[in-house]
Order: sequence, then C-alpha cells, then structure tokens
Amino acid sequence: MTILVLNGPNINMLGIREPGIYGKNSYQDLLNLLEETAKTEGIEIQHYQSNHEGDLVDKIQEAYGKVDGIVINPAAYTHTSVAILDALKAVSIPAVEVHISDVDAREPFRQISYAGMACEKTIKGQGIDGYRQAILYLKDRYAVDNHCG
Ligand code: DQA
Repeated sequence: MTILVLNGPNINMLGIREPGIYGKNSYQDLLNLLEETAKTEGIEIQHYQSNHEGDLVDKIQEAYGKVDGIVINPAAYTHTSVAILDALKAVSIPAVEVHISDVDAREPFRQISYAGMACEKTIKGQGIDGYRQAILYLKDRYAVDNHCG
C-alpha cells in the first residue's frame, strides 16, 4: 500500500512558526515520524511539501492510479482553494485532511475547509501525531476494501 502525504504553505517552517499554535516539532521531526510509521506499518509513504497551490494540484493529479490514499494538510489553502478540492474529487483517492492546530478553536475564516469536502475524515488539534492517525485510518480502510488484514 502506498500513501502520499501532502503539505501546503509554511508547513516547512514547523518548529519555527508560531510554536504556541503549531508546537515545537520541526518539519524534519514530521518526516521522521512518517518514516517510522511506514516501517512499523509496513507501507510505503511518499511525502511532498509546497508553498504553491498549483504544485499541490499537480501532485494530486500525478497520484492518480499510483497511490492508495492521500493525507493532506493544505495549510492556508484549506480555506481558499477550490482547485485543491476539485483535484481531490477528480482523482477520487481516499483522503484524510490533517490540521496540526485545532482550526475550530481559532479565527472564523479557518473554520471553512474546501479540501475537507473531498476528504473522508478530518483530524485536527493533535499536533504532528495527527498524520500518524490519518495514515492508520487509511491503512484500515484499505484492508477492508481489499479483504486483507
Ligand atoms: C493548519 C491550519 C491553517 O489554518 C493554517 O493556515 C496552516 C496550518 C494546521 O495544520 O493547523 O498553515 O493547516
């Protein structure tokens, strides 16, 4: 099973940006967590981060037919991007939305998620562990769909 983990703008600044909101873990800590999770769960995890909306759309399109699940934190594009929503709908790959912070407890504009409309589940406010939880959800779902595990 292959899972693609996509991160949007400023997620590469984790650990530096607003640690009171996003925590002290760096982007490298997140990549280490993904690597550990891949090993423990026996799955392939690919990852990509971009500060550019179109790059994220391209990655979602490229995943078509190649990836079994998508974990996506579109970051600020969550609240603005119909293009990312449409790309997720176009490929129809099971997707989970992750937010490191609890977006519902923040400014009202963060409570709208376009990408979330194409996702089966949203995990928020769990720090970087939210990514691990999203991967476990997609792994379980894949096992049910493929009658294994
Ligand atoms: C975020 C929440 C967004 O509102 C914000 O723009 C981000 C990160 C999160 O992970 O909590 O950049 O997606």
